[in-house]
Amino acid sequence: MPKIVYIEHDGREHVVDAKLGSSLMQTALDNAVPGILGDCGGACSCGTCHCYVDAAWENKLPPIGENEEVMLEGTLHTESNSRLSCQLEVTPDLDGLVLRLPKSQVM
Ligand code: FES
Repeated sequence: MPKIVYIEHDGREHVVDAKLGSSLMQTALDNAVPGILGDCGGACSCGTCHCYVDAAWENKLPPIGENEEVMLEGTLHTESNSRLSCQLEVTPDLDGLVLRLPKSQVM
């Protein structure tokens, strides 16, 4: 099972086991990681699963989709490494992936 590292805006780190085929948003919810809300259930229509992908991992993810790009344009505090975690599937290659979570999703 790949391990995913989520780092909250305040630096708190959560290392969780991720199920292959699940999304990185669902993985965060299944493990009660604060800072990923997933309000739309993964339909790419809320932007509350926003995360920043660690630079070392950006090239290992699939390219951003058109719907994801449009949704990110309306999301707070985006950066060049922003992604929507509901649009990213857990694969074996992502073992050790580091995602940082934005201030806008602090609960
Ligand atoms: Fe709503 Fe990802 S969960 S856009």
